[in-house]
Amino acid sequence: MQNNEQYIKELVMRASSAMKRAYAPYSHFCVGAAVLTEKGNIYSGCNIENASFGATNCAERTAIFKAVSEGETVIKAVAIVSGNGKPTPPCGICRQVMSEFMAEDGLVILGIKDAEAKIYMLNELLPERFIY
Ligand code: THU
Repeated sequence: MQNNEQYIKELVMRASSAMKRAYAPYSHFCVGAAVLTEKGNIYSGCNIENASFGATNCAERTAIFKAVSEGETVIKAVAIVSGNGKPTPPCGICRQVMSEFMAEDGLVILGIKDAEAKIYMLNELLPERFIY
Protein backbone atom coordinates (compact mmCIF):
# COMPACT_ATOMS: atom_id res chain seq x y z
CA MET A 1 0.00 0.00 0.00
CA GLN A 2 1.45 3.34 -1.05
CA ASN A 3 0.36 5.93 1.47
CA ASN A 4 -1.49 6.34 4.73
CA GLU A 5 -4.72 7.51 3.18
CA GLN A 6 -4.92 4.48 0.94
CA TYR A 7 -4.33 1.93 3.67
CA ILE A 8 -6.79 3.68 5.98
CA LYS A 9 -9.52 3.45 3.35
CA GLU A 10 -8.66 -0.17 2.62
CA LEU A 11 -8.79 -1.06 6.34
CA VAL A 12 -12.18 0.60 6.79
CA MET A 13 -13.52 -1.24 3.74
CA ARG A 14 -12.23 -4.56 5.08
CA ALA A 15 -13.80 -3.84 8.50
CA SER A 16 -17.12 -3.05 6.79
CA SER A 17 -17.17 -6.31 4.90
CA ALA A 18 -16.22 -8.29 8.02
CA MET A 19 -19.14 -6.62 9.82
CA LYS A 20 -21.51 -8.43 7.43
CA ARG A 21 -20.38 -11.69 9.01
CA ALA A 22 -21.11 -10.55 12.59
CA TYR A 23 -22.78 -13.25 14.68
CA ALA A 24 -24.94 -11.07 16.93
CA PRO A 25 -28.30 -12.79 17.53
CA TYR A 26 -28.56 -11.35 21.08
CA SER A 27 -27.57 -7.70 20.83
CA HIS A 28 -28.15 -7.31 17.07
CA PHE A 29 -25.20 -4.91 17.25
CA CYS A 30 -22.90 -5.81 14.37
CA VAL A 31 -19.23 -4.85 14.46
CA GLY A 32 -16.36 -5.41 12.03
CA ALA A 33 -12.66 -4.76 12.46
CA ALA A 34 -9.52 -5.01 10.36
CA VAL A 35 -5.89 -4.83 11.43
CA LEU A 36 -2.79 -3.93 9.43
CA THR A 37 0.34 -5.82 10.46
CA GLU A 38 3.97 -4.80 10.29
CA LYS A 39 4.39 -7.15 7.32
CA GLY A 40 1.65 -5.26 5.45
CA ASN A 41 -1.01 -7.95 5.75
CA ILE A 42 -4.62 -7.27 6.72
CA TYR A 43 -6.70 -9.54 8.96
CA SER A 44 -10.37 -8.85 9.57
CA GLY A 45 -12.92 -10.08 12.09
CA CYS A 46 -16.44 -9.67 13.40
CA ASN A 47 -18.07 -9.92 16.81
CA ILE A 48 -19.10 -13.45 17.75
CA GLU A 49 -21.75 -13.67 20.46
CA ASN A 50 -22.66 -16.57 22.69
CA ALA A 51 -25.76 -17.63 24.65
CA SER A 52 -23.45 -17.40 27.67
CA PHE A 53 -22.92 -13.67 27.13
CA GLY A 54 -19.50 -13.51 28.77
CA ALA A 55 -18.12 -15.83 26.09
CA THR A 56 -18.77 -13.20 23.41
CA ASN A 57 -15.73 -12.06 21.42
CA CYS A 58 -15.54 -8.52 20.06
CA ALA A 59 -14.69 -7.85 16.42
CA GLU A 60 -11.38 -6.18 17.28
CA ARG A 61 -10.18 -9.17 19.27
CA THR A 62 -11.28 -11.60 16.56
CA ALA A 63 -9.17 -9.69 14.00
CA ILE A 64 -6.18 -9.35 16.35
CA PHE A 65 -6.27 -13.01 17.35
CA LYS A 66 -6.42 -14.05 13.70
CA ALA A 67 -3.25 -12.04 13.03
CA VAL A 68 -1.45 -13.38 16.10
CA SER A 69 -2.44 -16.96 15.37
CA GLU A 70 -0.83 -16.55 11.94
CA GLY A 71 2.41 -15.49 13.62
CA GLU A 72 1.95 -11.73 13.20
CA THR A 73 2.32 -10.02 16.55
CA VAL A 74 3.08 -6.44 15.46
CA ILE A 75 -0.01 -4.44 14.54
CA LYS A 76 0.26 -0.94 13.11
CA ALA A 77 -3.39 0.05 12.84
CA VAL A 78 -6.89 -1.19 13.52
CA ALA A 79 -10.13 -0.01 11.90
CA ILE A 80 -13.56 -0.51 13.48
CA VAL A 81 -16.99 -0.19 11.90
CA SER A 82 -20.38 -0.85 13.48
CA GLY A 83 -23.92 -1.21 12.26
CA ASN A 84 -25.29 1.87 13.98
CA GLY A 85 -23.66 4.25 11.49
CA LYS A 86 -21.73 6.09 14.22
CA PRO A 87 -18.04 5.95 15.09
CA THR A 88 -17.66 3.08 17.60
CA PRO A 89 -14.77 3.32 20.05
CA PRO A 90 -13.36 -0.02 21.22
CA CYS A 91 -14.32 -1.47 24.62
CA GLY A 92 -11.84 -1.55 27.50
CA ILE A 93 -10.91 -5.20 27.07
CA CYS A 94 -10.12 -4.64 23.38
CA ARG A 95 -8.00 -1.57 24.22
CA GLN A 96 -5.96 -3.72 26.59
CA VAL A 97 -5.56 -6.46 23.96
CA MET A 98 -4.53 -3.82 21.40
CA SER A 99 -1.88 -2.58 23.82
CA GLU A 100 -0.28 -6.03 23.83
CA PHE A 101 0.37 -5.95 20.09
CA MET A 102 0.44 -2.25 19.16
CA ALA A 103 2.83 0.58 19.98
CA GLU A 104 1.54 3.66 21.77
CA ASP A 105 1.39 5.52 18.45
CA GLY A 106 -0.50 2.73 16.68
CA LEU A 107 -3.64 4.01 14.95
CA VAL A 108 -7.20 3.24 15.98
CA ILE A 109 -9.45 4.25 13.10
CA LEU A 110 -13.18 4.61 13.73
CA GLY A 111 -15.02 4.24 10.46
CA ILE A 112 -18.49 4.93 9.18
CA LYS A 113 -19.29 2.61 6.27
CA ASP A 114 -16.40 3.16 3.86
CA ALA A 115 -14.92 6.34 5.31
CA GLU A 116 -12.85 7.07 8.37
CA ALA A 117 -14.56 9.36 10.84
CA LYS A 118 -12.04 9.68 13.67
CA ILE A 119 -8.46 8.55 14.10
CA TYR A 120 -6.75 8.17 17.46
CA MET A 121 -3.39 6.95 18.60
CA LEU A 122 -3.70 4.05 21.02
CA ASN A 123 -2.19 6.08 23.88
CA GLU A 124 -5.05 8.59 23.58
CA LEU A 125 -7.57 5.80 24.19
CA LEU A 126 -5.47 3.93 26.77
CA PRO A 127 -3.12 6.30 28.60
CA GLU A 128 -0.86 4.87 31.31
CA ARG A 129 -1.32 1.38 29.98
CA PHE A 130 -0.40 -1.66 32.03
CA ILE A 131 2.89 -3.26 31.00
CA TYR A 132 5.49 -5.34 32.80
N1 THU B 1 -18.56 -5.23 20.53
C1 THU B 1 -17.49 -5.30 19.69
O1 THU B 1 -17.44 -6.14 18.79
N2 THU B 1 -16.48 -4.41 19.88
C2 THU B 1 -16.45 -3.47 20.86
O2 THU B 1 -15.43 -2.79 21.04
C3 THU B 1 -17.62 -3.25 21.71
C4 THU B 1 -18.67 -4.29 21.62
C5 THU B 1 -19.66 -6.20 20.36
C6 THU B 1 -19.75 -7.22 21.45
C7 THU B 1 -21.21 -7.59 21.38
O3 THU B 1 -21.37 -8.62 20.42
C8 THU B 1 -21.92 -6.35 20.87
O4 THU B 1 -20.89 -5.51 20.35
C9 THU B 1 -22.69 -5.60 21.93
O5 THU B 1 -21.91 -5.33 23.05
